[in-house]
Amino acid sequence: MLNQILRKDELSKDDLLYLIGLESESDLELLFKAAYEVKTRWVGRKAYYRGLIEMSNLCLKNCFYCGIRSGNHQVKRFTMSREEVLGLVAWAERNQYGSVTLQSGERNDLDFIELIDDLLSEIGQIEGGRLGVTLCLGEQRPETYKRWRELGAHRYLLRMETSSPELYRRIHPADRHHDFDYRRQCLSVLKGLGYQVGTGVMIGLPGQTLENLVDDIIFYRQMDIDMIGMGPYVVHQDTPLGRQAVADGLDSPDQRRRRLDLSLKMIALTRLYLKNVNIAATTALQALDHLGREKGLLAGANILMPIITSREYRRQYMLYDDKPCLDDNADQCRHCLSGRVQAIGEEVGFGLRGDSPHYSPAA
Ligand code: 5AD
Ligand code: SF4
Repeated sequence: MLNQILRKDELSKDDLLYLIGLESESDLELLFKAAYEVKTRWVGRKAYYRGLIEMSNLCLKNCFYCGIRSGNHQVKRFTMSREEVLGLVAWAERNQYGSVTLQSGERNDLDFIELIDDLLSEIGQIEGGRLGVTLCLGEQRPETYKRWRELGAHRYLLRMETSSPELYRRIHPADRHHDFDYRRQCLSVLKGLGYQVGTGVMIGLPGQTLENLVDDIIFYRQMDIDMIGMGPYVVHQDTPLGRQAVADGLDSPDQRRRRLDLSLKMIALTRLYLKNVNIAATTALQALDHLGREKGLLAGANILMPIITSREYRRQYMLYDDKPCLDDNADQCRHCLSGRVQAIGEEVGFGLRGDSPHYSPAA
């Protein structure tokens, strides 16, 4: 049965449900092997870097799972200066990273928007447009997305967190800042503006079913998504969802293992189903297993996001507990990650942008 499904070119929802339920070591090995073959054929065996700049931990949202939610008063808030961000961008360029990702908590105040406007203009000039720029700055107004696109940003990552409106409601406060439909609409606006569009979900959320996860993969196709960034849900102790998860016994070693395996299965299934998209092996995988990111690459992912944020800010950008690489600087992360890539027989696409083959600019 398993071999038959894995040989199919087009998987049905029932096939996906069957595959996501696989448990035995030998079945998982077959699944990951099949996904790796599809990856090799459609996107190759290079891992592309997106240097991650966590530029501000101010956030107007209050998501129940996230360590930097506005309601967490333990967090010391920071915003990098324009010069600090540009310094990190220059470092990425010097080190032949094909792209950088500007990420922050969600903000739409004028100061912040103007800072991004300014940074995009500067990055476009300094690098002659060579460096790929991905924005991961949450929900914004359509005109803001449009201006940033015109200023040279060409990828946008906005995670839906889940494609189920009901589950979304359970993990977010019920106010106008946390509106499932608006978020989904943002993805369509971004697509319409010609961005390469990325989304993703958290895997292993309390109350999330296997069918929810399969529906997430089908959602990626329906929305014609080019890039996927998804990873396991990882408990943060100072959050409502984290506290509840600990109280319910959902943070045991067994449960963490289950969330890791589930995340790897999601990567493999997404690769088998969508074939030519970019899929990130996210840092959260490594919070649950020190070989998490390598395992992600071997299950079908082809993108890595080395953190280049300076060490002083890393601890203040804690979305979840056990964030790896806290004591490293950008140089250390670069070496450590390239070592990890080589150890599994792949190479890093240094100096290359590594755009998603799924993306067609004319569409
Ligand atoms: N566990 C895993 N991922 C998380 N994120 C936020 N909090 C957590 C958590 N506790 C992810 C969300 C968000 C991204 C920036 O970080 O998916 O979109
Ligand atoms: Fe803010 Fe994003 Fe964290 Fe939600 S997940 S609180 S939007 S940083």
